[in-house]
Amino acid sequence: MKKILITGGAGYIGSHTAVELVNAGFEPIILDDFSNSQASVVDRLGEIIGREVICFEGDCNDKSILEKIYKDHPFEGVIHFAAFKAVGESTQLPLKYYQNNIGSLVVLLGFMKEKGIQNIVFSSSCTVYGQPDSLPVTEDTPRKDAESPYGNTKKICEDILVDFVKSKAGVKVVSLRYFNPVGAHPSAKIGELPNGTPNNLVPFVTQTAAGIREKITVFGDDYDTIDGSCVRDFIHVMDLANAHVKALAYLEEQKVDFYDVFNVGTGNGNTVLEIIQTFEKVNRIKLNYEIGPRRPGDVVKIWADTTKINSVLGWHPQYTLEDSLRDSWNWEKSLTK
Ligand SMILES: NC(=O)c1ccc[n+]([C@@H]2O[C@H](COP(=O)([O-])OP(=O)(O)OC[C@H]3O[C@@H](n4cnc5c(N)ncnc54)[C@H](O)[C@@H]3O)[C@@H](O)[C@H]2O)c1
Repeated sequence: MKKILITGGAGYIGSHTAVELVNAGFEPIILDDFSNSQASVVDRLGEIIGREVICFEGDCNDKSILEKIYKDHPFEGVIHFAAFKAVGESTQLPLKYYQNNIGSLVVLLGFMKEKGIQNIVFSSSCTVYGQPDSLPVTEDTPRKDAESPYGNTKKICEDILVDFVKSKAGVKVVSLRYFNPVGAHPSAKIGELPNGTPNNLVPFVTQTAAGIREKITVFGDDYDTIDGSCVRDFIHVMDLANAHVKALAYLEEQKVDFYDVFNVGTGNGNTVLEIIQTFEKVNRIKLNYEIGPRRPGDVVKIWADTTKINSVLGWHPQYTLEDSLRDSWNWEKSLTK
């Protein structure tokens, strides 16, 4: 079985990707410092796949831990999820974000070059498009100045990868620009585990439904959208996880010194109010929400053009928005049990 290092593999997207890698016949090797996840996720992953998952606790800025892992588990590719992702915190503590998000990529790439490890899939984000001038966004839509240090780390990391490939370092790279991941594994054994107050809409919705939060505030209902609230492209995390497997297969077909980038979304936009209404309908729960003022810096509407990932990787989402919101709620209920 081909071994793939998953940095940040105990996190939300990484843990679901570990499941999809096993389903596709790969052996995931997790490296996580648990700065934004819990070690129990690894046990739950083991329950899903029916055997123990190999996991190392450590910081991927630390080359010695990469050496240690590689000695016992010579991995043939890397999926680099490990990063800090709280947009608000990144504006308060920018250096923390630049150091971890950029530093870890630099260490990892140096290590890959040294060992001749060719394939890497990088977690980028639709945040690189900022407030786009036209919709839907394609991979050729110009990237905008980032709205936050977090967003800037994603742009800079993409640029580092492009420069590294240009330097003929012998690597092959795919950057995946995720839209808005939601949902959880259908078993409800793993899902999104936000630290403190959630930054993302759906964990806020599920926590409100569970009585942990009093109410949801919808930031603005007077934008130029069908119901006035912001529009996003919500993608089930299992579909997103599967895109990584397809990206690895694609990289295997390429020659070295290769770079490509794909949007990973559904191609559909849904408003914040539609999410609330769909959640209520699918789960037969009334949510307490209020309309608040617009939030500075919010992108009004964005969704992906997925033509490239559909045609080149042969990837198509399998889950609906209803599936996502049902699985998110089942996950939340499993946490409060
Ligand atoms: N969730 C989203 O909405 C979203 C959207 C676009 C892009 N992304 C990107 O996808 C990736 C994964 O996001 P996620 O939602 O799963 O986040 P997450 O916080 O759940 O997972 C990241 C994991 O990385 C670990 N980690 C952080 N720094 C580390 C380090 N130096 N060494 C080892 N482990 C470290 C954390 O403990 C955590 O388990 C991130 O790069 C994020 O920026 C996420």
